Amino acid sequence: MKALTPLLAVLAIVALAALGGLAHASLVLLAVFVPYSACAVFLIGFCYRVVRWAWAPVPFRIPTTCGQQKSLPWIKPASLDNPSTGWGAFRRMTLEVLLFRSLFRNNRARLHDQRLVLGEDRYLWLGALAFHWSLLVILLRHLRLFLQPVPVFVSLLSRLDGSFQVGTPAVYVSDVVVVGALVYLTARRFRSPQVRYISLPFDYLALFLLLGIVISGLLMRFVFRVDVAAIKQFALGLAVFHPSVPSTLAPIFLIHLLLVSTLAAYFPFSTLMHMGGVFLSPTRNLANNNRSQRHVNPWNHPVKTHSYAEWEHEFRDKLKIAKLPLENEDAGKIAFD
Ligand code: HEM
Repeated sequence: MKALTPLLAVLAIVALAALGGLAHASLVLLAVFVPYSACAVFLIGFCYRVVRWAWAPVPFRIPTTCGQQKSLPWIKPASLDNPSTGWGAFRRMTLEVLLFRSLFRNNRARLHDQRLVLGEDRYLWLGALAFHWSLLVILLRHLRLFLQPVPVFVSLLSRLDGSFQVGTPAVYVSDVVVVGALVYLTARRFRSPQVRYISLPFDYLALFLLLGIVISGLLMRFVFRVDVAAIKQFALGLAVFHPSVPSTLAPIFLIHLLLVSTLAAYFPFSTLMHMGGVFLSPTRNLANNNRSQRHVNPWNHPVKTHSYAEWEHEFRDKLKIAKLPLENEDAGKIAFD
């Protein structure tokens, strides 16, 4: 049920885009006004959230530690999993962003014959890695639609990605991988009872939007064969703020564009913001030097403390009668009398 509303929402967007191309006014609205507004919401929303996170005070040093902390010289520290310097934290962050190391440690707990069994679960790591990397390749390849002349690295990437040519047009490896990864990530939300329980409608919305974008992209390339040159002309116009809308824009392209615009506008309000948030997470971007350096919370209110020595001094007589050992026989005279 939680997946039904987002599915209907995506289908409604598809229907809107398909019908929107029928009249010129609605075509301009969908092809110009909507993408520009979505871009503005994306940029302003993204910056707003990042700036708010950046301004949030971090009074405590709370890095996640997953290995031996740096301590005595003869104890080998885990410099990546428990970095004690800024450079170490940078290395850990880089590997986290590029390889999702924390997901690699993902565990699965399940009950087997009334016993709790913990096991490794690398599929989520593999699925997430495959999805993010293939999406990046697809987005970089799309630069050919927005830049003239096309940068060499974009042409090279497209050639490399399409090198397993099994017909025309070439099937891109990134397309195959992104479809497989998205199907796995979506199926995982339905299949696993635990993941299904914690999933919210918005989790499905992001997945359905992405599936819609990828499917419409593939339909454009392999089924409906859109006029890519005309679309490039249109996209270049959008990029330099001189939009001109050809009346020949195919409905499938409008569907692709409207789904992309929806995703972009939704992005800053969604969990997809982990893309920016990961860099600002104090559990990841701080070095763990809590033993070698004393970090004092600058907002600490001057609190009246009651030390053990003071407590011992206060109850000295009673402690003596009870024959309890005193830490400092003379403390009372020296420090407090
Ligand atoms: C989140 C952003 C986007 C994603 C994930 C995405 C995804 C895809 C995918 C998977 C394909 C299939 C073929 C390929 O991989 O090249 C495709 C094709 C295509 N996309 Fe996108 N797309 C995005 C944004 C856009 C935008 C903003 C435009 C244009 C304004 C666009 C225009 C096209 C066109 C024209 C094709 C057909 C290319 C061809 O036939 O070679 N896409 N898209």
